[in-house]
Amino acid sequence: MIQKLNSVNSLSGTVTLPGDKSISHRYAMLAAIAEGESVIRHFAASHDCHSTLHCLSALGVDVRETDDTITIKGCGLRGLCAPANPLDAENSGTTIRLLSGILAGHDFICSITGDASLSGRPMGRIIQPLRLMGAEIEARERDLPPLVIRGGGLKKIRYSLPVASAQVKSCILLAGLYATGTTAVEEIIPTRDHTEIALREFGAEIRISGSWIEVDPEPRLRARRLTVPGDLSGAAFFIAAAAMIPGSELIIPCVSLNGRRRELLNYLDRAGMDILVENETAEAGELRGDLRVRYNPAFPGQRMPDIRGAETAALIDEIPVLAVLGAQAAEGLEISDAGELRAKESDRISAVAASLRAMGAGVTEKPDGLIIHSGRKLRGADIVTHGDHRIAMAFAVAGLVAEGETRIHDSECVNVSFPGFWEMLKTVAG
Ligand code: S3P
Repeated sequence: MIQKLNSVNSLSGTVTLPGDKSISHRYAMLAAIAEGESVIRHFAASHDCHSTLHCLSALGVDVRETDDTITIKGCGLRGLCAPANPLDAENSGTTIRLLSGILAGHDFICSITGDASLSGRPMGRIIQPLRLMGAEIEARERDLPPLVIRGGGLKKIRYSLPVASAQVKSCILLAGLYATGTTAVEEIIPTRDHTEIALREFGAEIRISGSWIEVDPEPRLRARRLTVPGDLSGAAFFIAAAAMIPGSELIIPCVSLNGRRRELLNYLDRAGMDILVENETAEAGELRGDLRVRYNPAFPGQRMPDIRGAETAALIDEIPVLAVLGAQAAEGLEISDAGELRAKESDRISAVAASLRAMGAGVTEKPDGLIIHSGRKLRGADIVTHGDHRIAMAFAVAGLVAEGETRIHDSECVNVSFPGFWEMLKTVAG
């Protein structure tokens, strides 16, 4: 399907977000291996999180869904059953990488696969530590899915992450629940810590000591009643749109304000955007609150602050839409240390470069990032999304400020993280 966009006068109203995708995956997986019945409210409507639920059902877990509430009857730590068919993680990297950690702890053989995009994404990063722990894993050439995992009999490891990846960290911590002793993972560059927070909430013993995270094996995980906050990475598209369109004012209630995710707000604040955080509270260790976002004529000014190093890792899912914002600044924006973006649902560095160029912006592609040269007026174009939800939504935002019509191809891919995105955009654009 093609979505057509034209420039709009202003955005106003309230943005309703889906539940946070990363938190929803973790709550569902931990509920599945806990004891008792967990109830998860405002569970992400995203296709990705439903891939996790389908895999859990195929592993014998009783999962029920009513509106946005999921009820999961836990099977206990080692209670998953060998699936009759290969598990299908579809488009979801979080599903395949985190679930592999749990499967490595189970004493059966199973295979897990995904769609064409996921089948091209690197799994060596989880295969290597899981093999060190004693799991037997086979993959296609170059460590690509499908993975065949024969789990059980895991040993503890001390492992320093070679890539800044919350998915890899989480995979090892989850496998550590099944190991012979305490497993430790070191991350030099901090990444999202939803797994650590959720493990503690479900009753696991987690210790943080400097850059090391330790998890003890054989916890008794207990069922929980939890509410997932809104997804800040989904909010990012509306925040960026409000930043660019004169007269805009949006309210975004109950959004996740986790310390490792809110770098987006810190960065935009430094860049001069007008964002107010209200009613901040914590529930189950996860901060949440309301955002009030206003257009500020002084933003983005001459140049957006460059993004590099640990900041790139903290903004990894927001880079495509920040690149669109950078194209509005008179002297642009430089993004570095973002090589990981080439291994996402698409090669996001080349997808962003190609789409910005199609819209008339000057862009240099670097191996690990982008230089966006100038704040030329964008013009409408045909956007090839490569089926990547974040490319589709980032360039929908660009379409709202471009001259002429923008056409987003394969626009239904937004369902991967934000079903209802197009309707929400129409609502606030009046
Ligand atoms: C995620 C971690 C990030 C992020 C992805 C979700 C998670 O991936 O890009 O959208 O839920 O742990 P990496 O850990 O591979 O960087």
